[in-house]
Amino acid sequence: MRLKDKVAIVTGGARGIGFAIASRFAKEGGKVAILDIDLEKAEKAVNTIKNEVSGAEVIALQADVSNVDSVKRCVDEVVKRFGKIDILVNNAAIHLGKPFHEEPLEYWEKQFRINVLGTVIPSQLVVPHMIKAGGGSIINISSKAAITGEPGHAAYSALKGAVLSLTLAMAVDLAPYNIRVNAICPGPTETDLLYSATTEEERKRMAARAPLKRLAKPEDIAAAALYLASDDSAYVTGQKFVVDGGMTIVAVERV
Ligand SMILES: NC(=O)c1ccc[n+]([C@@H]2O[C@H](COP(=O)([O-])OP(=O)(O)OC[C@H]3O[C@@H](n4cnc5c(N)ncnc54)[C@H](O)[C@@H]3O)[C@@H](O)[C@H]2O)c1
Repeated sequence: MRLKDKVAIVTGGARGIGFAIASRFAKEGGKVAILDIDLEKAEKAVNTIKNEVSGAEVIALQADVSNVDSVKRCVDEVVKRFGKIDILVNNAAIHLGKPFHEEPLEYWEKQFRINVLGTVIPSQLVVPHMIKAGGGSIINISSKAAITGEPGHAAYSALKGAVLSLTLAMAVDLAPYNIRVNAICPGPTETDLLYSATTEEERKRMAARAPLKRLAKPEDIAAAALYLASDDSAYVTGQKFVVDGGMTIVAVERV
């Protein structure tokens, strides 16, 4: 029960990594609001968690993370229902790509709005509540792509890099309020996002490249998020937590 009495918002929590984080937080005693653009899926996710965790306090809310008004409505609703906000996981994102010289500006603009402003907007709206509560933990989901560059995904990689820089700047500005801000950089993780972007053959090759010889499971990322959300990481801020089975430590490809 490492999150007993804590209140968390997980953006994009209706499926994939966000769902695994919401589910793990609920298992650890946290009260969780799943904020997603897809309300129907978010409600299904809430039911799944309630079936798995008896007495879980989990709610589904609909918002587009790049839209200030809709996120504000959700943040107000969370405070009304649970009284405070201790943890924010900025997880919602989209993943578009073409080779750099063919990538339309529209891909840059869309991903800037959702992946970058979609991290800024919920954070700016939640911080005043964290200040009131005496502190908090913000976890930004970046990507291995921010560190190594993902083939055919220049905008996605660059904007996940922006999420990393943003994490450092936020950590410095918010430390005086006891708000910690950290990033997680997942390697390829078995979710719908990855499955729609890759073939089975490509996934096999990627898994073979990881020293730990497999892709990440959403639960691997959720375990890292739990550490950063809990008081176990009370002295950790402005860090990037790479969860990639060691993919980024291999200097020369072996396959
Ligand atoms: N899956 C991977 O291999 C991988 C690797 C590195 C980083 N990531 C990052 O992890 C995070 C989660 O990825 P995933 O694979 O679970 O993705 P996913 O596509 O499976 O799930 C994303 C969720 O976000 C929601 N969402 C999308 N746009 C939204 C918006 N504008 N407002 C609110 N909700 C929105 C979707 O409805 C969905 O529920 C993302 O930030 C992604 O960039 C994923």
